Formats: sequence, C-alpha cells, structure tokens
Amino acid sequence: MEPVKIMLPEKELPRKWYNVLPDLPKPLDPPLHPQTREPLGPEDLEPLFPMELILQEMSPERWIDIPDEVLEIYSLWRPSPLFRARRLEEKLETPARIYYKNEGVSPPGSHKPNTAVAQAHYNKKAGVTRLATETGAGQWGSALSFACSKLGLDCTVYMVKVSYEQKPYRRTMMQVWGADVYPSPTEHTDVGKKILEGDPDCPGSLGIAISEAVWDAATHDDTKYSLGSVLNHVILHQTVIGLETRKQLEMVGDQADVVVGCVGGGSNYMGMAVPFLMDRAEGRDIRFVAAEPKACPTMTKGMFAYDYGDSAKMAPLMRMYTLGHSFVPPKIHAGGLRYHGDSPILSQLVHEGIVEPVSFTQNAVFEAAILFASTEGIIPAPETSHALKAAIDEALRCKEEGVEKTIVINFSGHGHFDMAAYEAYLAGDLPDYEMSEETIAKALKDAGVSE
Ligand SMILES: Cc1ncc(COP(=O)(O)O)c(C=O)c1O
Repeated sequence: MEPVKIMLPEKELPRKWYNVLPDLPKPLDPPLHPQTREPLGPEDLEPLFPMELILQEMSPERWIDIPDEVLEIYSLWRPSPLFRARRLEEKLETPARIYYKNEGVSPPGSHKPNTAVAQAHYNKKAGVTRLATETGAGQWGSALSFACSKLGLDCTVYMVKVSYEQKPYRRTMMQVWGADVYPSPTEHTDVGKKILEGDPDCPGSLGIAISEAVWDAATHDDTKYSLGSVLNHVILHQTVIGLETRKQLEMVGDQADVVVGCVGGGSNYMGMAVPFLMDRAEGRDIRFVAAEPKACPTMTKGMFAYDYGDSAKMAPLMRMYTLGHSFVPPKIHAGGLRYHGDSPILSQLVHEGIVEPVSFTQNAVFEAAILFASTEGIIPAPETSHALKAAIDEALRCKEEGVEKTIVINFSGHGHFDMAAYEAYLAGDLPDYEMSEETIAKALKDAGVSE
C-alpha cells in the first residue's frame, strides 16, 4: 500500500525556526509609532511585548533556536502528519498529487499553538504573569489559553462578539484551560465602552478586539499583549509547519509545485510557505496561492499602504494590504479570516507578485469542505476550507491541462466547533457576501488610508 500518512519521527522535530526577513526580495518598510508616525524602535514595543520577541520581530538572523521548553510542549503533537489526499485525488480524477499538512492535530485544533507556546515561554521568562489577547473564531484564544495553562500564566481573551455567540463551546474550551473570556466589544475596557456607546449592537471585529487587548496590556504592569498572527515573530514560530513539510515530501521523493493556504492575518500560510522560498531561491519553479474570503478581500481588493493594526489606532502602523482599520467585515463563519489587514511579510510577497491571491464566497468554500470531509474524512474549519477550495481548483486545472503537479495544502485546523456553520450551509441558509469596489474605497477613505 502507498503511504497515506507521512510521519516524521519525533527526533526530526525542527530545532530552529526559519526567519525569512534576511531573504525577502526587498527589506520590509518599518512599522510606525501610532502617535508620532515615526519608525518604531524596540523600546516603543516594550509595554506590549517581552524583549526577546521584539528582537525576533526585527532579527537579521536566518535561523533562531527553538527553546527546549517549547520543543517539549511541541512534542505533544508535533511533528504533525502530512497526508496524501488520495481519496480526494480519485474523486476529482486529477493527475495532481495533493498533500495536506494536518495542523488540526494540536490540542486546541489548529496551527495557532505553534506561536502561542513560544510567546507564553518568552513572556514567562521575562517575568510576565498574565497575557491579554483577542480571538476571532476562538482558535487563537484556545491556543493561547492552552499555552498559558501549560506554562502557568493567566490569560484574558477578548473574543469577537459574533464568534462568542456562534461558538459557545470554543469559549468553554478556553475556560477549561483557565482563561477569562469576554465578548468584544466589552464594557471592561475604555475602548469597548466607547464603541458600544456608538453602536450597542456592534458584532465586533478582530481590529476592535485587538484594541481592547492592547488597552488591557498597556494599563496593567503584570500583563503583556499577545498577537496570534500578522507579526514577523508569529510567522517565524509558524515556520515549523513548512520546515517539517519539506522533510516529509523528501521522505516520499516528492517536491512541491504549488503551495496553498488560507489567509486571515497570514500566519499559517506564511509558516507553510516561506521555507519553500528557499527552494524557489535555488531555482525551483513553485507557485504560491493564498486564499481569502470575498467578504474580507484584503489581498485581492485592499490597498498596499500604511495602516493601523487595530480599530482604535493604538497598535503600530504597518505597510500591508488593508481594507482600512475601521472596516467591520460581514459575519461570515470563517471568523478567523475577518481581519482588515495582512502580515507585512505576506503583503510584500503579494506586492512582488510571488504570492498569488484568490478569493471565494462562503457557499463555494463550504462545498469544498463537504467534498473534503466526504473523501478524506476530516471536517475542516471554515477558514481552512478556503485553502481546500483553492487547492481543488488547482487540481481541476491540472486535470483540464493534463499536467501532474504536486499541490501542498496547509490544513490549518479542524471544524469540530463549527457545526452551526455546517448546519446553516446544509440548510441552504448561508448568505454569500462580496465587497464591491465602492464599499472598499469608502472603508479606506473613512480610515484615512492612502498609498
Ligand atoms: C483554523 C484557522 N485557520 C486560519 C486562520 C487564519 O489566521 P492566519 O492567517 O493567521 O493563519 C485562523 C484564525 O483564527 C484559524 O482559526
């Protein structure tokens, strides 16, 4: 029998993360201070992050050691399996070989603990006792709650209100790991109070929840802020995904032609994709395809410009694809993809034409999810299903053109807490949202974003 699961032995767990910063085609534009709009120095970030993470954010080193304590916790689920999706290939009758890296096997169910554990470790080392964060779909909040419980830190999570209501069991999961969870916007922060005064029914957004968590960290000495995506150090920690995948493909004598993932802030996709840039630099022709919702089309319709990372303009400005920091996306079920911006690293790779963005509406995404679940068995998260839709499209193109390509997907998480979304899809109750050019132009104008 041909292998279905390609497993790396535990001793092959990467010992170093790959830092893509020195290998980018152009250096990133610096982040700017939210008040002065001057380039940020490490000391400006100190109220929010421990120094080791700040240094990683700007590091010129290509390889950074993974601390033993982090490796030890990673070993609970890493190396994660790479699957050959033979049943999906057969169903599609494609000559393409499809692989998916299953990050859904982590205790919280997604790729997010790869950075949560690392961030909790560096914070604990710096004497921090509590972390504050935001969460969209609940995956990041679960991951940080899990990491804090492993490392003995307190954890406060501002959960986007629409997800808090759609996913009560994600909230309970965080509470099982000992976290305090609030629906955002909440009355607990000045930022939240102000938003609720203007719009008592505000469904929340990642931008708003980030503002609340940043406010919490900035107003408490024992507390730092932790971000689950977007930043360079988050992408650094996520590179374990791509590093393992390269080794796993090598084990079966294959090489990636197309690397596919979904994008919220860009961390799971970059974690998978950037190690493959090393192969590209050596002359291999690899395509990079990144999928996003048409309801929040940062890469496909946003502007590549400096914008704030959060709604209340407390977080630094970064040069990225953005829809404007005040943009509140429609209530799609892929809550983790409802962010107005993107990682600066990913944004630059899109801008340079190295990463090709694609976008989908929810019904097309759920159709792909059902096809995947009925062939491969695993029920994917709605976020992950964007990547599956993009990969299925690629595989069908291979069939049309009669070419045998190797397609590698980052399967960022399972959808076991997304049954309400599946129920709505199966009942034919899912609305499709697509942002018009006018809506986006207005959102950018309202936020004062220009190139
Ligand atoms: C399962 C899953 N995939 C993907 C994402 C998107 O985040 P990122 O682009 O940072 O990987 C999320 C975010 O919550 C998620 O929960």
